[in-house]
Amino acid sequence: MIQMQSIQKIYRTEHVETHALSGFNLSIAPGEFVSLMGPSGSGKTTLLNVAGLLDSFDGGTYRLDGDDVSRLGDRQMSRIRNEKIGFIFQTFNLIPDLDVYDNVDVPLRYRRLPAAARRERIEEALEIVGLTSRIHHYPAQLSGGQQQRVAVARAVVGTPKLILADEPTGNLDSAMANEIMDLLEKINDLGTTVVIVTHDSELAARAPRQIYLLDGRLVDLEKDERPAPLFNPAENGSRQAQSY
Ligand SMILES: Nc1ncnc2c1ncn2[C@@H]1O[C@H](COP(=O)(O)OP(=O)(O)OP(=O)(O)O)[C@@H](O)[C@H]1O
Ligand SMILES: [Mg+2]
Repeated sequence: MIQMQSIQKIYRTEHVETHALSGFNLSIAPGEFVSLMGPSGSGKTTLLNVAGLLDSFDGGTYRLDGDDVSRLGDRQMSRIRNEKIGFIFQTFNLIPDLDVYDNVDVPLRYRRLPAAARRERIEEALEIVGLTSRIHHYPAQLSGGQQQRVAVARAVVGTPKLILADEPTGNLDSAMANEIMDLLEKINDLGTTVVIVTHDSELAARAPRQIYLLDGRLVDLEKDERPAPLFNPAENGSRQAQSY
């Protein structure tokens, strides 16, 4: 699904050049469930943004589902992003003026699908996340966990091959975090490749494959190079309390 070789990603600002990914290699097979951990600033979001075609890269080769990304034009990239990838973010990113149904409909608006087919898919996605009864609620009328479930429904409604979730449980308590993880597992069981970034080592351990980033490179867990955590991820609210 994802094949990255020697990927470089450099952010340049007036004062500093940051090598967010350097000589980065990663291969993720179709149907895998991978968790990604690493300290703040290690490049996790950068990696998901590059993987999800939300951001460009400065060197190396990236093949996404067989396509050489550097050869794709903007329109092809948008189409692939819309059809093959579902995104889930820490802050839910729902549109406040749209109800649950219309939020989940957003990715389908770019498809030429008959209204009935769209409705069917939206209802199916809401059924998967267990929110059928909230279909005409607005985001402000939902709990955080429910809002994230809407975001999960929005990510899966277009039947993507790949779900990229950047700290999807970072704003949730541990019970809700586990529910979101249950959902991602369920979606993965249906065949979708899932990559989840998390600071919670217990959640990360639920994934069959765990990878660890440090300074824009993958750390080989086998060699036990992984540094001790700087905070106790099991503690509730540790995201807010962490100091690095
Ligand atoms: N738009 C940008 N412009 C300049 N530098 C950036 C930009 N985005 C990220 N960086 C830098 O790239 C590095 C990697 O950032 P990234 O957001 O990928 O880290 P992260 O692992 O997701 O961290 P966190 O756990 O805090 O979310 C950081 O040093 C950051 O300052
Ligand atoms: Mg991040």
